Amino acid sequence: MSIWKKKSITQLLSEAAESEKGMKRTLTAWSLVALGIGAIIGAGLFVRTATAAAQNAGPSVTIGFIVAAIGCALAGLCYAELSSSIPISGSAYTYTYATMGELLAWIIGWDLILEYAVGAATVGIAWSEYLNNLLVNVLHTSPIPYEWCHSPLQVSDSGIHGIINLPALFIVAVISLLLIKGTQESAFVNGLIVVVKVSIVVMIIIFGWSFVHPENHTPYIPEPSIFTDEHGVDHHFGGILGILGAAGTVFFAFIGFDAVSTAAQETKNPKRDMPIGILGSLAICTILYILFAHVLTGLESVEFFRTSGKEASVANAITSAMGEGYQWLAQFVTVAILFGFTSVILVMLLGQSRVFYSMGKDGLLPKAFGDLHSKYKTPYKANLAIMVIVGLFAAFLPGDIVGDMTSIGTLFAFILVCISVIVLRKTNPDMPREFKTPLVPIVPVLGVLVCLAMIYGLGWTNWLRLIGWLAIGLIIYFGYSKKHSKLNNPE
Ligand code: ALA
Repeated sequence: MSIWKKKSITQLLSEAAESEKGMKRTLTAWSLVALGIGAIIGAGLFVRTATAAAQNAGPSVTIGFIVAAIGCALAGLCYAELSSSIPISGSAYTYTYATMGELLAWIIGWDLILEYAVGAATVGIAWSEYLNNLLVNVLHTSPIPYEWCHSPLQVSDSGIHGIINLPALFIVAVISLLLIKGTQESAFVNGLIVVVKVSIVVMIIIFGWSFVHPENHTPYIPEPSIFTDEHGVDHHFGGILGILGAAGTVFFAFIGFDAVSTAAQETKNPKRDMPIGILGSLAICTILYILFAHVLTGLESVEFFRTSGKEASVANAITSAMGEGYQWLAQFVTVAILFGFTSVILVMLLGQSRVFYSMGKDGLLPKAFGDLHSKYKTPYKANLAIMVIVGLFAAFLPGDIVGDMTSIGTLFAFILVCISVIVLRKTNPDMPREFKTPLVPIVPVLGVLVCLAMIYGLGWTNWLRLIGWLAIGLIIYFGYSKKHSKLNNPE
């Protein structure tokens, strides 16, 4: 039994051919761009931007967005090569199984739980914030009491302790059950959600622009200092370290573009369309994000985002800075964001179930995760397990903690994907590659460095969380997965 044993590329390609049966090549470059934007714009922009401004960088969170976008573009080019040569579901987990062996595949599969499951919990918690905003500012009813919509690790300004985040738990459960029934977003619904999301961002930029107060942008890059958050964690605020910390935090806003790479099998001309889909959706989002962050940090001060504007920050900043005349915008944004978040949670839970499904089939997780429902043909046992895991995260942890864990876990996955490209060029030089990453090894190496810089910026509390998470994963691997792995037990 070896922990370095790799799945052969031939084996993967035959699995791919198997799973490709029935898939049609219908997607064009533009549908990929739409798919990307639908998966990308969510809590990262509407919740984490204000957090990054408050904790790390003030207005220079815009520069953080640029750093994060560069890291994503470099890693995105690597994702595109792997997904066009190993077009099979399971994303980075599958690529690593073929390139770096079982142990690293396990590590990445375990790590992807941070990206998809913990990411879904983060968006669920953001959904809960905006639901309260909907109740109070749109429906003019009373809010859900603080203790029932916050984690036990949170305390309100008036000293109330959170108990459980029920709305976050609710939305996660509803979407998990929908996924079991096999509800797939149709291209039409996805298109509609993309239009709504992009229009609210554009509206906020256009209407908010004239309400930007130059004093909120002065100095644009604050002097370096230390900011201690409500959990007693210190953050570098201002200066270069502040920008790197902000980049790590808002990196969350780009997560999901790798979903584009998983559609390689359904793309008409992957060689041309994949890079357009990945880089195109990244480019559009980056421009929107920078302008949006510029306006948001100009509407209100850093102090506002640390205190009264901490939750549902965008709607609150509009109400407070733009006045009664723009109440309709705050209300529209609230309703639209609730729908937008729902689609992001759906994509993330779907991604997670594919990874669990692949790992169950490979024997690294209980085989039951590879079972399909007799009627709905969905991996329902994987979906149910994910519902419980994500539900626990969403119900009992604060958004800041799960958000940063998602960022650091995904950055780590991106690093392994970049390294995989270099390894695979050496070990399998002749493998057919429908799309080739340009300038190898420069692009993957730069990708690794930029992602490492963001991991550095996220600070030691998050490094410890990542190390702790990986340690638990190793215990499970050596205690269970290695013994049950199909590759190691071929009978
Ligand atoms: N990028 C997605 C979001 O910001 C995960 O919600």
